[in-house]
Amino acid sequence: MTDTLTLTRPDDWHLHLRDGAMLAAVLPDSARRFARAMVMPNLRPPVRSVTEAAAYRKRILAALPTGMSFDPLMALYLTDNTSAEEVALARACGFVQAVKYYPAGATTNSDFGVSAVERAYPAIAALEQQGLPLLVHGEATDPEVDVFDREAVFIDRVLAPLLKRFPKLKLVLEHVTTRQGIDFVRAGGANVAATITAHHLLYNRNAMFKGGIRPHYYCLPVLKREQHRQALVEAATSGSPKFFLGTDSAPHAQSAKECGSGCAGIYTAHAGIELYAEAFEAADALDKLEGFASIFGAAFYGLPRNSATLTLARTAWEVPAELGFGAGKLIPLRAGETVNWRILEP
Ligand code: NCD
Ligand code: ZN
Repeated sequence: MTDTLTLTRPDDWHLHLRDGAMLAAVLPDSARRFARAMVMPNLRPPVRSVTEAAAYRKRILAALPTGMSFDPLMALYLTDNTSAEEVALARACGFVQAVKYYPAGATTNSDFGVSAVERAYPAIAALEQQGLPLLVHGEATDPEVDVFDREAVFIDRVLAPLLKRFPKLKLVLEHVTTRQGIDFVRAGGANVAATITAHHLLYNRNAMFKGGIRPHYYCLPVLKREQHRQALVEAATSGSPKFFLGTDSAPHAQSAKECGSGCAGIYTAHAGIELYAEAFEAADALDKLEGFASIFGAAFYGLPRNSATLTLARTAWEVPAELGFGAGKLIPLRAGETVNWRILEP
């Protein structure tokens, strides 16, 4: 039985850090575990230009407690108006590593997103040409489509045709949640990959309704059936370099989740690598965690592997019932419950 596990320091390829006091509250949780993170641009207003990304990156670094190191990799928010020139600037600047495609209305702060994919063709053509990845929130926004089918329908209607049109495009299906998503990624070339969250590996949709409605298990894309969770676990633990870690840790104040129309998003950064260790252990695949968490993502992005390490121990700990979050409170995943692995500070 392995009681400690030392990994090349992991990276988080999908993270929401927010801004201001909320940023200051959550950033140390990620920096303690991950060397780098792909920082999502869905602020209000979103991060649409290299200039805005530079300013946001500066605010993140300023919020980092002294003595901690963390490299925020920035993603620009794709809109109907993103120009090929902006994509070229992004490629050249050195700190923007991707562009994020939110279908308009798909999720939190996505109103500025792409209204019809054709409108973004000039920018997407530039991404393909520059080799800069397009990160996709893969959900159909047609209100007629069942919420549990939105990923599969989006793949059929938008992603598959998009890849036909731009076959060399580097594309990441973010927070993949279904067997259809996994199959789509597997069928693609080396330019097609996916991130997988810890919560989609650990829970199926029953978690949202256990004993009552549970807003802290609500995220987008929404948790799916058990058969889909199993497909995700299979992919994550397969050793395929097409699947890598992206927590999609998405903090919202308690008051914004526990109400009549609660926000989507699950906070997991407080146990950002530990929860994956649980999921991989449950699949008897701890030996596959390092590739998924620390190696495949950097390789996909063409970035160097981290040289530092992180050690985890199989020691259970209790997650606090709530965390500070600026003026409000943040309810983390597993609040008041146990996580089976903990990180040892270097
Ligand atoms: C994210 C957020 O809150 O910013 N929410 C979520 O449920 N994942 C947005 C997103 O990534 O869809
Ligand atoms: Zn997200």
